[in-house]
Amino acid sequence: MGFPSVRPRRLRRTTGLQRMVRETTLRVDQLIAPLFIRHGEGVSRKIVSMPGHNQLSVDMAVREAESIAELGIPAVLLFGIPAKKDALGSENFDPEGIVPQAAYAIKKAVPELVVISDMCCCEYTDHGHCGIINVPGVPGYDERLAEGYLLNDPTLELLGKASVVHAQAGADIIAPSGMMDGMISTIRSALDNAGMEHTVIMSYAAKYASAFYGPFRDAAESPPGFGDRSNYQMDPGNAREAIREVELDVEEGADMLMVKPALAYLDVIRQLRDRFELPLAAYQVSGEFSMVKAAAERGWLDEQRTAMESLTSIARAGADMIITYWAKDAVKWMR
Ligand code: PBG
Ligand code: ZN
Repeated sequence: MGFPSVRPRRLRRTTGLQRMVRETTLRVDQLIAPLFIRHGEGVSRKIVSMPGHNQLSVDMAVREAESIAELGIPAVLLFGIPAKKDALGSENFDPEGIVPQAAYAIKKAVPELVVISDMCCCEYTDHGHCGIINVPGVPGYDERLAEGYLLNDPTLELLGKASVVHAQAGADIIAPSGMMDGMISTIRSALDNAGMEHTVIMSYAAKYASAFYGPFRDAAESPPGFGDRSNYQMDPGNAREAIREVELDVEEGADMLMVKPALAYLDVIRQLRDRFELPLAAYQVSGEFSMVKAAAERGWLDEQRTAMESLTSIARAGADMIITYWAKDAVKWMR
């Protein structure tokens, strides 16, 4: 008798006790659902590497947005596949571009749904990089820099312009994802000067150069045509640098912060949560989704349990909001 007298298992004996002491429960309010929009009508094109997800034309995206809102999910994140790509990614700042069209149509059909626009050039540029590439003839060409280097300041100008266009079309939140220096202050002043001072900026503040984006590049048709993104996205080994990136974005006026990817960077989420007061999002990226899907198809993992465990862990690490390709499934699983 008497040994052991301290028995943590007492609190795990029944599901009632488990429910009472559970520290983290995923909430519907935390979820953000990504959507991929392309031109056309009645289009729903399977994304092979992301089972269950499709590139949708605006009309179909509106229907999908309605079903997302019906489930109680508060927000969608829009990505666009342009009609044509060029060196500057012109469709990104075209008021008739695919994301402005979608933002307008979704806000009209489902006004209460928060529309977030992923603000970057890589879906729109013919070279697939997140801004203007240094080659003779482009705006801001700099002969001191290597050919092919991503030009920071000329890119900022495009991001400011495109952000205003997307906000005027109806986007509630602009989410710059290109990891350009100064992108937050540039976008903030562009929005303010255009009278869009109520538009929120969610910064992809700590975005790593990650292999987990693989399936997304398929979904958004945006793989870099040469090289990789390691001279603008962060090195996976760095956590202090994430704090530095966030400090800058806070100073520049970000309203919300983000860490991306999520599962491989839970320590970064926790550190940022403990250190900063702004709402914090985590992006459970395409690879985090597809690797579980693939293993589940083989019967090696239980999709629902693996997905919910990952989502709960991301919330436990400190994320207030979670962008996830399981958003709709998660709501059903939570019921
Ligand atoms: C664009 C962007 C990417 C993702 C979100 N915005 C791709 C990249 O940076 O290469 C990845 C999302 C995902 O993998 O789900 N800058
Ligand atoms: Zn990009």
